[in-house]
Amino acid sequence: MENHLTIKLGEKKDRKGPVIFSEYKRGDAIRKALSMSREDILFELKDSKLKGRGGAGFPTSTKWMLTAAAKSEKKFIICNADEGEPGTFKDRVLLMEYPELVFDGMVVGGYTIGAQLGIVYLRGEYEYLLKPLEDYLEEMRKDKLLGKNILGKEGFDFDIEIVLGSGAYVCGEETALIESLEGHRGEPRNRPPYPINTGFLGRPTSVNNVETLAAVSHIVVKGGKWFAKYGTDKSSGSKLFSVSGDCEKPGVYELPWGTKVSELLELVGAKNAKAVQIGGASGHCIPKSQFGRTLAYEDIPTGGSVMIFNENRDMLKVLKNFMEFFVDESCGQCTPCRIGNVKLLEGVEMIEKGNYTFAHINKLKDLGRTMQLASKCGLGQSSPNPFISILENFKDEIFNRGNGGRNGR
Ligand SMILES: Cc1cc2nc3c(=O)[nH]c(=O)nc-3n(C[C@H](O)[C@H](O)[C@H](O)COP(=O)(O)O)c2cc1C
Repeated sequence: MENHLTIKLGEKKDRKGPVIFSEYKRGDAIRKALSMSREDILFELKDSKLKGRGGAGFPTSTKWMLTAAAKSEKKFIICNADEGEPGTFKDRVLLMEYPELVFDGMVVGGYTIGAQLGIVYLRGEYEYLLKPLEDYLEEMRKDKLLGKNILGKEGFDFDIEIVLGSGAYVCGEETALIESLEGHRGEPRNRPPYPINTGFLGRPTSVNNVETLAAVSHIVVKGGKWFAKYGTDKSSGSKLFSVSGDCEKPGVYELPWGTKVSELLELVGAKNAKAVQIGGASGHCIPKSQFGRTLAYEDIPTGGSVMIFNENRDMLKVLKNFMEFFVDESCGQCTPCRIGNVKLLEGVEMIEKGNYTFAHINKLKDLGRTMQLASKCGLGQSSPNPFISILENFKDEIFNRGNGGRNGR
């Protein structure tokens, strides 16, 4: 584990990108926001067409408008820095190299929705970032960017706390996160009510991803229309991608939405890719024939994880690894997810041993589709994605393993 003494927060690598990695100075968004009305900030966000970067893609302007409209003396804004999706590490890069964007975005959020406290729910494994981030917040307090009457704005009091996450993937789901923050077992809540009305401690709460908040800082300074110039009509702006696996240059890349998978692969030096898992373990796996598709909500939506597999990889092993993860990480609260993931993993093991029938595998795919509809939260709703997509897109490789499967029955 990295020692926090060696971490220089805010030190930037040579990163290039049109939006997130573009020029920005700490405090700029706060200064600009405080000169605007809350309504005007919401209009800029609406013009930007920014959708939440945590995966679900809910419009940020709508979330903030609803939280702003909720009646309560106390409100909260939570920065979801749990980042537990396998293959995702862009939020860590933002927190380490661009903390000003994330924290300024939280202050702007606090001002817009009328919250007094912001809470960063920091992935437990990022504990080494806790002290440097807290030191950074202290500097912001000294510069009057946090605390009472921020930048002299009478009556605008707002501060930020950091709470370490509890080490479960499901705690990234916003209502499980809130349960965990309240000191309970991290399990998703029934919805409605939604956090915008009944969130942390029963108060209106906006939960936003790290990258969403970073984007907000740029939007406030440069305008919603500037942001919407990038990307496509339905997927505005740019996206950070955490690229890992079989390529020469893994890392975090900022690309406009609408970029083709093949273009990304070329950029990162993936010369021999046969499969790309997009959206983390819970995303979809596409074969070479689909590399012409685009990274965009209207084609392949993603929270940003891109895992590349070359010709030497055994796709059944890849799938087994993902399904073992979901069996471990299901919170067990709802039956489709608790039992379903075990059944899907058993199916993978049957194929591995050559002891399966296609009738049974097809039943398991149906089970996966039922889980997508019947699970209580996004975990069980999305965990069948790799099962279905890998078995469909790589069937020749998987079902011709030469292990004597009882095929065709
Ligand atoms: C199992 C599971 C894990 C999740 N993990 C994260 C996470 O680590 N970070 C995140 O921002 N959103 C995560 N989400 C999505 C959140 O529930 C929520 O949609 C998001 O934080 C909202 O922020 P946004 O509107 O800025 O995207 C997860 C969802 C599920 C179902």
